Amino acid sequence: MSEKVILLAENIWKRYPGVIAVKNVTMKVKEAEILGLVGENGAGKSTLLKILTGVIRRDSGKIYWFGKIVEFSSPLEALKHGLMYIPQDIVLVGNLSLAENIFLGTEKKWLFKPRSEAEELAIASELFKELGVNVNPMAKGSSVGAAIAQLTLIARALYFKAKLIAFDEPTSALGPFETEQLLNLMLKLRSMGISIIFVSHKIEEVMKVADRIYVMRDGEIVKEFTRDQFNINEIIRAMIAREVKEFFPKQPVEISDKVLEVRNLSDYTGFIKNVSFYVRKGEILGIYGIVGSGRTEMAQTLIGYRRKASGEILLEGKPIVIEKPFDAIKNGIVYLPEDWRLALVYLMCVKDNITLSIANSLKLSELGLVSPVDMRKEHEIVKSFIEKLRIVPKDPYRKTMYLSGGNRQKVAVAKLLATGAKVLILDEPTHGIDVGAKVEIRKLMVELAREGKAIILISSELPEVLNMSDRILVMRNGTIVAEFRKEEASEQKVAEAAILNKAK
Ligand SMILES: Nc1ncnc2c1ncn2[C@@H]1O[C@H](COP(=O)(O)OP(=O)(O)OP(=O)(O)O)[C@@H](O)[C@H]1O
Ligand SMILES: [Mg+2]
Repeated sequence: MSEKVILLAENIWKRYPGVIAVKNVTMKVKEAEILGLVGENGAGKSTLLKILTGVIRRDSGKIYWFGKIVEFSSPLEALKHGLMYIPQDIVLVGNLSLAENIFLGTEKKWLFKPRSEAEELAIASELFKELGVNVNPMAKGSSVGAAIAQLTLIARALYFKAKLIAFDEPTSALGPFETEQLLNLMLKLRSMGISIIFVSHKIEEVMKVADRIYVMRDGEIVKEFTRDQFNINEIIRAMIAREVKEFFPKQPVEISDKVLEVRNLSDYTGFIKNVSFYVRKGEILGIYGIVGSGRTEMAQTLIGYRRKASGEILLEGKPIVIEKPFDAIKNGIVYLPEDWRLALVYLMCVKDNITLSIANSLKLSELGLVSPVDMRKEHEIVKSFIEKLRIVPKDPYRKTMYLSGGNRQKVAVAKLLATGAKVLILDEPTHGIDVGAKVEIRKLMVELAREGKAIILISSELPEVLNMSDRILVMRNGTIVAEFRKEEASEQKVAEAAILNKAK
């Protein structure tokens, strides 16, 4: 890394109705450095990256690129100057090949010499080779997963001789192996003289490769750490500014009758086998297991998303039949999928997302319109959820896509609660959201338990399961292999049960 500054941003501001997304930010990027950018959900990281790379316009402030003031009117223009933004949810042009995706927006014919498809493919192959990966440039954009899509955009950046690549949460859609690969690739890009801005919620990841880290909070850059100052606790402290004494705000709640009981549940594939358990009013039942142990499949079988082969389900002591997810909802059993993004309609506002699932139960007038009475009722419901779950901003009409990750998660939970659920099955509810938002969601679980809900917490974060649950079930190979009361559970015991193949 040299000390040469290639990008300098000064006093950048960006306001949205009701929020200041970026507040007087001054920052720099040096040549061939990996700059980490961390902060809680909604801190303004994505907005800042997008401003730097021409995706959105700043309200005010100056950006110097190699010493000259620049004003990019589009991402393509920024890319032509050597700045590339790689978004979290990459959308390639599906019916174009990867090669065509790389060259998108460049002159193809008419200029002096037309570029043939064969030439494009050859250049694309060369670019992938330069990245040290084996990717077929003829594959269609729609046919590749997150990792390849990412590589395609990196290849595109190389083609444009980018000097700065801004990655917005690039590892959130990757598995551990792909993540490792990407981190190595970042180091490689750095050695090629390219600078990187790396936004991630996984601070350990950022610490692994970054030369410097900026911490953002409430739209501002509040702290800078150089590599020799890296310290995870200090970084987290800067991110949240309040002491998190309790990452796991579990509190004793009175536990009473069994709400849900499952007996000998098996799925049609034979993977989920003879699962039996119960969960009581006010109880948080943790379900732990390593990836592939069948936790999600078990939940899906329970709620009728996967076909059952056998099993009895009792709700407050009475047998019920669940053949499809709607049967589960009708009975007050709701499931928040691990990819809670699936539970939301991004283009709809917060209010409509929350009431979507209860729209049927609101009375319709003869014309098929919601009556003014119900509209008022709907409003009250939405308002109370926004308050109770501390959704920020408090605006019910804000499109969900404009909310930060943690707040989207809360809207997804609100949507479930609005159905009047008795049993909540939360699949990795704190996955992919920042530390502060994790604590908020955990607090919310305790509050819901106190209200008498029964909560099933599926998590692969062992400390979370241990600290938040009243009882813990461990799954392995599609079945329950151990059960622990809170007092008897330990990290060692639970992990052993999840991994070791002890004869039972
Ligand atoms: N297009 C928009 N319209 C209105 N508000 C927006 C828009 N984009 C972002 N915001 C708001 O600006 C603030 C900063 O959002 P931003 O997406 O930059 O945060 P972030 O740090 O990237 O969060 P996350 O970690 O959740 O991705 C948030 O309060 C967000 O709701
Ligand atoms: Mg973001």
